[in-house]
Amino acid sequence: MAVAAAVKCDIRNPKLAPEGKQRILWADRDMPVLARIRERFAREKPLAGLRMAACLHVTAETANLMRTLQAGGADVVLCASNPLSTQDDVAASLVQDFGVPVFAIRGEDNDTYYQHIASALDHRPQLTMDDGADLVTSLVFVSLNRLDDVPARVRSWAASMDPAQRKALIDGIVGSLEETTTGVNRLRAMERDKVLPFPVIAVNDAQTKHFFDNRYGTGQSTLDGIIRATDLLLAGKKVVVCGYGWCGKGVAIRARGMGSFVIVTEVDPIRALEAAMDGFLVMPLDEAAPLGDVFITVTGNAHVLRREHFRRMHDGAILCNSGHFDIEIELPALKEEAQTVTPKVREHVDEYRMPDGRRLYVIGEGRLVNLAAAHGHPASVMDMSFATQALTSEYCLKNRGKLAAKVHDVPREIENTVATLKLASMGIRIDSLTEEQKKYMSGWEVGT
Ligand SMILES: NC(=O)c1ccc[n+]([C@@H]2O[C@H](COP(=O)([O-])OP(=O)(O)OC[C@H]3O[C@@H](n4cnc5c(N)ncnc54)[C@H](O)[C@@H]3O)[C@@H](O)[C@H]2O)c1
Repeated sequence: MAVAAAVKCDIRNPKLAPEGKQRILWADRDMPVLARIRERFAREKPLAGLRMAACLHVTAETANLMRTLQAGGADVVLCASNPLSTQDDVAASLVQDFGVPVFAIRGEDNDTYYQHIASALDHRPQLTMDDGADLVTSLVFVSLNRLDDVPARVRSWAASMDPAQRKALIDGIVGSLEETTTGVNRLRAMERDKVLPFPVIAVNDAQTKHFFDNRYGTGQSTLDGIIRATDLLLAGKKVVVCGYGWCGKGVAIRARGMGSFVIVTEVDPIRALEAAMDGFLVMPLDEAAPLGDVFITVTGNAHVLRREHFRRMHDGAILCNSGHFDIEIELPALKEEAQTVTPKVREHVDEYRMPDGRRLYVIGEGRLVNLAAAHGHPASVMDMSFATQALTSEYCLKNRGKLAAKVHDVPREIENTVATLKLASMGIRIDSLTEEQKKYMSGWEVGT
């Protein structure tokens, strides 16, 4: 399809489109729920004319979400939500084959990353989709005329508008959808600080998202990233998982399944107890530091692995992160501690040699290891997350002007629809309540 000339973009190489298309269609085979929604969207056009900007990992699965929104009539542009997660061939195919404007180049520097966010904002979106809230926070800062708080490229984009025009950027916004835990945390903080100007739907918090995507998706793809980057045999290794939330549980359980001894570190007593009763060793990170062969941070917090831990780790320890931002491993401190840093001793792996000769290895520059060193979540699990995103976009538009400017949950009916369609696609049938059971469950009279 010769659509590229008309489509705005900043991508690595349009010639990569054939490989990208192959991958998009391969992922589509495992995304039956999204495909059903796409068919309906194509008939009904529920998003007709809606300008959308999505800031998501530019992967084959995301491409299928873009196709779905487009089928629904949305005028959507896409930028990356992480400098290292873009699949350049997918970006090329989205532009060349599907006519979706994409601003994303794998390995882009921070300036380019924010230039791409500015390009997406320049689309004047009425609905935004984020994975980590970088797009929305940039938009809100600009609309508040707080230009000192935005990165340089967003500031220079905003400088072309006067204060009233910047304020007006949020006027037509129907709402915003957020895909990940860290983004939801940031948006709730904005709501608390009374700066959230439009409704946000916490897609991450839907059970059809975090029960499956965070647990099974991150669980599998994090280990996939570690294995691809290192060729490590996980059996018999001591794997330290920092954070036993939805993602951490998935990682820990899968590492155990591969034969690793898994140690969990936590700060939340309930989650720590859960890890202990799930059969993991739980201890402070300080005690785990000399034991671990592999360290995986997945907390959504900052500086979890720090200087004092690097000092106690043994020669050859491998460090990686699967939390949203690249701040869970305190890399500046590691650089200061190291005598030499050798980048790319293998693709995706940097070596930090300590003055005493110990070598520590960091995968993917401390960015999301499953996207930096592997292909992210399997399509089958993104099917549910992105089906939830697509239906929630429709819900937002249907309820335009009716939702308060706060963080909302995904409506239960959407979750039930997604789960029911997924079960059907897997050929699984379940029971339904009898009339007697319905009456019993809603009554109080019958007791012992
Ligand atoms: N890699 C991916 O593809 C992917 C997918 C989904 C979510 N995420 C990201 O992963 C992170 C975790 O998400 P989640 O859904 O598991 O969140 P969660 O809130 O369910 O779990 C985080 C856990 O980390 C613990 N924690 C916080 N600070 C800690 C510390 N200093 N030491 C040890 N534990 C600590 C918390 O107590 C909590 O139990 C977020 O940044 C999220 O955005 C990544």
